[in-house]
Formats: sequence, structure tokens, C-alpha cells
Amino acid sequence: MLTAELAPLDVETLRQDFPILGRVVRGKPLVYLDNAATTQKPQQVIDAISRYYSETNSNVHRGVHYLSEQATLQYEGARRRVAKFLNAESAHEIIFTRGTTEAINLVAASFGRKFLREGDEVILTEMEHHSNIVPWQMACDASGATLRVVPINDEGELLMDQFRQMLNPRTKLVAAVHLSNALGTINPAAEIIELAHAAGARVLIDGAQAVSHLPVDVRALDADFYVFSGHKIFGPTGIGVLYGKTELLESMPPYQGGGDMIRSVSFQRTTYNDIPYKFEAGTPHIAGAIGLAAALDYVEGVGLERIAAWEHELLEYGTELLQNIPGLRLIGTARQKSSVLSFVLESAHPHDIGTIIDSQGVAIRTGHHCAEPVMHRFGVPATARASVAFYNTRQELEVLASAIHNVNQLFS
Ligand code: ALA
Repeated sequence: MLTAELAPLDVETLRQDFPILGRVVRGKPLVYLDNAATTQKPQQVIDAISRYYSETNSNVHRGVHYLSEQATLQYEGARRRVAKFLNAESAHEIIFTRGTTEAINLVAASFGRKFLREGDEVILTEMEHHSNIVPWQMACDASGATLRVVPINDEGELLMDQFRQMLNPRTKLVAAVHLSNALGTINPAAEIIELAHAAGARVLIDGAQAVSHLPVDVRALDADFYVFSGHKIFGPTGIGVLYGKTELLESMPPYQGGGDMIRSVSFQRTTYNDIPYKFEAGTPHIAGAIGLAAALDYVEGVGLERIAAWEHELLEYGTELLQNIPGLRLIGTARQKSSVLSFVLESAHPHDIGTIIDSQGVAIRTGHHCAEPVMHRFGVPATARASVAFYNTRQELEVLASAIHNVNQLFS
């Protein structure tokens, strides 16, 4: 995948598309290395949102007037754009949600109500984000199903043999992260899906971190559900995507009730709309969907394979720099890894690291990253996490490393 024949990215030129990257913070040029928390937005996305509000703003699916028709066309165009991005078979397999979290809650509640019964099993992995744990705990509580967890090794890789042994006829669903936000591990999604299908289980893949770093093809993966958030792929906050196979979405009950998700309502009986509308109650985030489509245009314009190749280089360089810092321990050293450098220092707590390097203009995240089971697995309360996007540079990683050296000096 990461081949030398790919034309390299002109990172300096691409950076010009992101106005915020030119900012000075705390008197220093911003070094933004918190891309796993949220990515920055190119001018093209900002303009698409602003253009929508300046020229088209209206409600969708409801009005007969010109603006409503235009807003509907743009909103449904965004749905087709997402379908193309994921290589879904049809745009009606794309449900707009508020984000990854809502998409998983939707599946856990709706799939859970329809398919989970007492004695059934749901399999998760030890490296899941809370948003891919708690909704399943709630679904298991409601149905009497049991949660099982695939452990990880010291490198932060899934123990696939244990996964194989866990699968059985009671397994109804497997939910796994594609690229871990806390460790950077890239999971073998295709293999997970194949094994789960062979056992008769459905699979949800949490692609929140993956989509901005790797090309994703839901049909090649044969994913039953694939979810991601707009804001982690250079789009707006408050918009996300649930991809689901047609037959599954059609068989599942609605998640929320309200306008747009119905065909007809009376006090005696309500009938539901077709997918995707059955799962989109109320006025959707129209500008968000349009902004997301612009972000996908942007990212595919840059090219996900070229992005993956450049980020691989950044990850290797960053790893080398960090490994040379005395007392630094990397958390997450999987062979298949992308974009995330999670670490702890002997000399300082992660929160102190984050605060001190912020004074150098370096933005990273510190804490449990909404993945407390990962912290327990590695015996740490928290980590400091630098996470790259394609607009980051080798020089920014040098600033990070030098700022961490300063932390060491300060605390020694
Ligand atoms: N889940 C996001 C992160 O990893 C917010 O920072």
C-alpha cells in the first residue's frame, strides 16, 4: 500500500488551505498534534458551509419552494458523496447522525432491540473507545445478552486466536475499532469480519479514526455497519455517518421518532418511512452534511493513499525521536499502526507534559482518551498523545520532541 511510486504530498502548499495552521498561540507558531481529537478544516469546507447559509439555507424534504428544493438536492448529494467515499452500494445505506457516538448508539439500540436476546453474546475488543463499549453494555442490560472482550498484547494488538475461540453460535454482533484512538493500532478489519460472518455474527466497525488515514471500502470489507464522524476527517462537528447494509437497516426498528421518519401518523397507528429517512427523525444537520461532502472532496483530492504514505513517514520519524527521549515509554507499538504517538514519561504526569508543552505552542491531548480499559491494560492512569494528520511536518515533530526534552529537564 505504501509505495514509493506515489507522488509525495506538497505539505507546505496544502497547509495554506487550513487558515488555523498559520496561528500563533502562546507567542509561538501553533504545532497542532491533536488530530485524533479533532482535525482542522480547510478553507474549502469553511466556504461550503458559509455558502450554504448565505445562499441556500432552508429546510429539506419539506418545502415546495426553490430554496428547500436546492437544500434537499445538496443534502441528498452529500449522502451520495458519502456513499461513493465508502463505496457503499446505495446512498440509502448512508444515515446521517450527529457523529460516531450517535451512530453506534443507534445500532446498539435498534439492532439490540431486534436481534439481541438473553443468552446471546456481543464481542468487543479491549481497545475500544467508551462510545463502542457503553452503548453495548446498555443493549446487553436491556436484552440479557452478555458482553465478551477480546484482549490485546503488550504491543496493543488484538489476540486474534482468542477472538477465534470466543466466536460461537451465540455471538450476534462483533464491534471493533478500525484504528485505535489511544494506541494507533490498525486492526485487521477484513479478517475480523470474515471470522465473525463465518460464525453467523454481524460486525460494526468504528472508523472514527480510520477514515482520514486509510482508504476504506465497506463492500470490500463486507462490513455490516461502518461508522465515522465528520469532524475527524476535516469536516464539521455534529455530523457523522452510519453505513449499514440495506437488508439490515430495513429490518431494524427506528431509533428516534419524529418528523421525516414517518410515512403516516395517526393516534391509532404510525407507519415508518423507508431507509435512510426512517433513521433521521427531525431536521438534520444540513450544513454539516454539505460541509462533510466538501471535506470528502478535499481529502480524496489529496488522495488517501498518498496521505497514508506521508503519515507513515511521520509516524516512523516521530517514533524515532520519541524513543530517544530518556524515560519515555510508548504505549502502543503495533506492527500495523498509524498516526498516534501515545506515551508516558517517568519524570512527569501526562497532564503536566500537556500543559508545559502547550506553552511552546504544541497541542496534544492528555488523559485516558475515552479508553479507560486501554489505560488499565497498560497500567497507566493516562497518557500524553500526539496525533498527526497529513498537514503535519517533520519539523513539527522535532518541536514536539524538543518540548518533551524540556519537560524532562524541568522535572529532573
Ligand atoms: N475520541 C477523541 C479522541 O480520541 C475525542 O481524542
